[in-house]
Amino acid sequence: MRDSRETSLTKAFVCGFPIKHSRSPIIHGYWLRQFGIDGTYEAVEVAPEKFADFIGALKRSEGFSGGNVTIPHKERAFELADEPDELARELGAANTLYLEEGRLKATNTDGYGFLANLDDRVAGWDERKDVAVILGAGGASRAIIQAVRNRGFREIHVLNRTVARAQELADRFGERVHAGPISALAERLSGADLFVNTTSLGMDSNEAMEIDFSPMRESGLVTDIVYVPLITPFLKQAIGQGRKVADGLGMLLHQAVPGFEKWFGQRPTVTDELRALIVADLERH
Ligand code: ATR
Repeated sequence: MRDSRETSLTKAFVCGFPIKHSRSPIIHGYWLRQFGIDGTYEAVEVAPEKFADFIGALKRSEGFSGGNVTIPHKERAFELADEPDELARELGAANTLYLEEGRLKATNTDGYGFLANLDDRVAGWDERKDVAVILGAGGASRAIIQAVRNRGFREIHVLNRTVARAQELADRFGERVHAGPISALAERLSGADLFVNTTSLGMDSNEAMEIDFSPMRESGLVTDIVYVPLITPFLKQAIGQGRKVADGLGMLLHQAVPGFEKWFGQRPTVTDELRALIVADLERH
């Protein structure tokens, strides 16, 4: 890592393996330009066996103020941080690291991004918070369960192909969270206010099953955290059934906001222009 003590340059990174498809450099680069900040945000590919060394170097570095970590490093980042916050501790995973007075702090902004996207794009989406149905029990699901629970949903059903994984999450996140198989979907959607797909079903050309969203409450919202394609098979079906929907791209954009503010000292906003930049990039690749 280059030492930038001689300059006022503030540096941040996104670290993953692989990392070349990350859109985070476009997002942070846009904000750096918008604010005219003398800073950089670079993608760094680090293999799992080198990650602890990378974090060690970061702690000793004067050049970096922090960064994002993504798959497969989120759990390890949490373990290696000096001070993970309460959100990261409950998840056992961190996606945002920042140095403060030589201490490496860690948080997880995925749940924030999920909620901020819906708040931004679907006015009144959380007026009713009786039942949420979350498909999937992987890493992304955890942050969303936590966020939906913290927003005050009364009953949260986590349905997964491997029910034992859903049960682990139900045990972790408390009595409002219930586990079940995907075959329980029709029953659980009855009267639901929110449906979230957190699985890779429908991503790229992965097959996604048919879902009848009609048992949901009329005001119920269907959302998907997959954003390639932007209108996923689940969203397409929901739109065809006359449902309110929100795509997953906004979660990616909003989860970046708290990190940028920590590293660069300004709170950025998610603009239509930024969204269009990422949509154009998705269309190119
Ligand atoms: P992430 O961290 O992105 O959430 P993950 O931990 O690999 O990724 O989780 C992927 C999720 O997609 C899991 O819920 C997985 O179900 P299992 O726990 O049963 O593996 C789900 N998933 C992936 N492919 C699937 C498929 N073909 N059918 C049903 N669920 C699938």
